[in-house]
Amino acid sequence: MSAQIIDGKAFAAEVRAKVAGHVDRLKEEQGITPGLAVVLVGEDPASEVYVRSKGRMTVEVGMASFEHRLTADTSEEELLTLVEKLNADPKVHGILVQLPLPPHLDSNLVINSIDPAKDVDGFHISNVGLLGTGQKSMVPCTPLGCLMMLREQLGSLSGLDAVVIGRSNIVGKPMANLLLGESCTVTIAHSRTKDLAEVVRRADIVVAAVGRPEMVPGDWIKEGATVIDVGINRIPSGEKTRLVGDVAFESAAARAGAITPVPGGVGPMTIACLLANTVTACCRANG
Ligand code: GUN
Repeated sequence: MSAQIIDGKAFAAEVRAKVAGHVDRLKEEQGITPGLAVVLVGEDPASEVYVRSKGRMTVEVGMASFEHRLTADTSEEELLTLVEKLNADPKVHGILVQLPLPPHLDSNLVINSIDPAKDVDGFHISNVGLLGTGQKSMVPCTPLGCLMMLREQLGSLSGLDAVVIGRSNIVGKPMANLLLGESCTVTIAHSRTKDLAEVVRRADIVVAAVGRPEMVPGDWIKEGATVIDVGINRIPSGEKTRLVGDVAFESAAARAGAITPVPGGVGPMTIACLLANTVTACCRANG
């Protein structure tokens, strides 16, 4: 079998076009422009790239983008004061504090100081709790993007065996909760899992989110399974470097029914879902 390649870039463009339509209607019918504030502390190069693309795409869909760049030595008090100001600003409907924060700042404290209604990352403890109990919440962008691709590919996910490899708060745990919400039988695998190969071989759905280049070999994949590869790993390739996922793409594609490529799979969906979450937050704030 040769897998269908799930085109995350094209799907993300469709999501952004829908968001742009929604933004137009909010402007025309209610005179409201949804606004997203992104806070970057320090100069982490990868974070710089993400924040720049978030700002660009926010503007492209017609929303207001507010970027706050703070130096790496910013105190916790200064950062908390900025978050308070954004919480109170009616022009700001979504707030994202880019992670990781410099080590002297307590990420949990900062994230939990964001108004949960503006927490477009879905990282605030109250949104985590709402998602974990199956209630309406802000859903973290990467797992939301993965779920949208799975639904588009498979329709109903009910009763399917799903394995999520990785137990991070940003991807693994919320992904598992979302799949449980779709009535999948969910296994969360991680670095201490005893027989990962066996767990993956049973799975109809594999979501790999560990950040280890090509750690899932193709021969672990069940024939016809759907593979969502969240990993974005830079590895040496001759004189240059190239991006690979957590799954060995070529060999997995020979067995899977469908698979996301890296790059061009999950990555573009994350920002599209961030924009969608901002519109959702704006609509909820304005009845
Ligand atoms: N750093 C890497 N991914 C993310 C994300 O989804 N949200 C935030 N805030 N920081 C990140």
